[in-house]
Amino acid sequence: MAKPFYLTTPLYYVNARPHIGHAYTTVVADCLARAHRQRGEMVFLLTGTDEHGEKIEQAAKSKGISAKEFVDQTSDTFRSLWKGLEISYDHFIRTSDPAHQLLVQKVLERLKPQLELGSYKFWYCVPCETSFGLREIDAAKPLCPQCGRPVSQIEEEDYFLPLEKHRAWLKGYIQQNPDFIRPESRRNEVLAMLTDELPALCVTRPKERVPWGIPVPFSPKHTTYVWFDALINYISALDWPDDGKFHRYWEEAGAIHLVGKDIIRHHCLYWPVILHALEIKPPKMIFAHGWWLVKGEKMSKSKGNIVDPQAVVEAYGLDAFRYFLMRDVPFGEDGVFSEEALVKRINSDLANDLGNLVYRTLTMLEKHTGGKVPGGKPDARISSQIQAAEQGVWVGLQQIAPAQALKALWELINHANHLVEEKAPWTLAKENRRLELEDFMHQLADVVRALALLLWPFLPTAAESIWKQLGYSGKLSAERLPSALSAHIPAGQQIQKGKPLFPRLQ
Ligand code: MSP
Repeated sequence: MAKPFYLTTPLYYVNARPHIGHAYTTVVADCLARAHRQRGEMVFLLTGTDEHGEKIEQAAKSKGISAKEFVDQTSDTFRSLWKGLEISYDHFIRTSDPAHQLLVQKVLERLKPQLELGSYKFWYCVPCETSFGLREIDAAKPLCPQCGRPVSQIEEEDYFLPLEKHRAWLKGYIQQNPDFIRPESRRNEVLAMLTDELPALCVTRPKERVPWGIPVPFSPKHTTYVWFDALINYISALDWPDDGKFHRYWEEAGAIHLVGKDIIRHHCLYWPVILHALEIKPPKMIFAHGWWLVKGEKMSKSKGNIVDPQAVVEAYGLDAFRYFLMRDVPFGEDGVFSEEALVKRINSDLANDLGNLVYRTLTMLEKHTGGKVPGGKPDARISSQIQAAEQGVWVGLQQIAPAQALKALWELINHANHLVEEKAPWTLAKENRRLELEDFMHQLADVVRALALLLWPFLPTAAESIWKQLGYSGKLSAERLPSALSAHIPAGQQIQKGKPLFPRLQ
């Protein structure tokens, strides 16, 4: 049986159009999923949309349509963006899916004996859909500690899940499992949240105030709190508690949740406690990435600094966009998005290094060996560089460090470009040193072949083009690593030189 691998993105709120922050997590998740599939694993990549709650309802109202009509439209916007970004998800869940709603109700029923009904006075931030204790916010300046927007004070009767009795367990679990929350800075942040007593988690809302939510099965006066509803997606998509998918992906593989750093409280505190209360084991890892900042600030509708991923792809191409997101900033840290930085990466890494190597290889094959791959001896040094790149890429991806993986790949590209200068095949041709020339051109074609294989999870379109240009007619996605890397390009294969993949930009 193939090894299972389970990876999730957050469910995106559908109140606004997707931006590059949403694209970021999803592109990284897609790259990891492809890399694991390429190594023969049985992958389940889950993404979707978070569709209940006050903020969605308000957004629908402002458009003058029903919440249901609104979420149907906006959820589609995400799905069509993922198509454009070549996201190879295995399942797209919507929290309005009837099966998900039923499952959330089942979870509430199961937790019912542990829930407490109580009166609740709190501050609430609608954009974050998050509540804060009365002492967490200064009444003279009622602003959200997370996003800085105004909060309002609410008093109501709700059901609560006590968290405090799980605190010691969670703290111990985090301490004993250093890879449970990554990176280290976020792990420390969560441990700091666990030093004081934990207030209970409110899991319902009065239906009168928040009607757009999953009905609470045992209380007709309540709907489910949107975050509680949304977190459950990670097991409802696996049809918990049925065996099968749940056993394979949750219990055997263990979930890897990719999230942004602003939602660690929900994923690293609330979620493990909900699971613990249900007697389900915690996910394998929660990896919190940083933010993309635009002109020094986090993107937001109110600041008017949203970058539309579709527009970036139309202007610069999908591969360049994916490359920039994964290469420019180590996953986990904040990054600055600007067109200048993007153009710089395109010109240096994609046009000068990668594009140049591929194009000059194909041009020399056309010129010196009649457009066919010559027969030739493999070279031990080149084979070991290919192997080192493969290992570097895989180690980087297993560490959820795509930038590090790409760096390892670029070492191979840089070696090969140097080797071209050193060997100067044009001189070998001029001096009619055919055997040396053919050996070297064969080896170079092998490097380009390896590049296509290793690049595929990151830049699927460019990698497929390189594969075709090398004269392969089959699908690159069907190739399996690492075995495909020890094969050599067949002698006599007719190449199909096309246009340069990444022309330099001004
Ligand atoms: N619906 C919740 C998640 C529920 S998961 C069970 C939510 N949705 S969101 O649409 O507001 O945010 C989704 C993700 O986008 C979060 O991981 C958040 O960190 C990420 N980003 C939002 N703005 C971002 C940037 N500017 N940069 C990078 N990621 C950012 O929260």
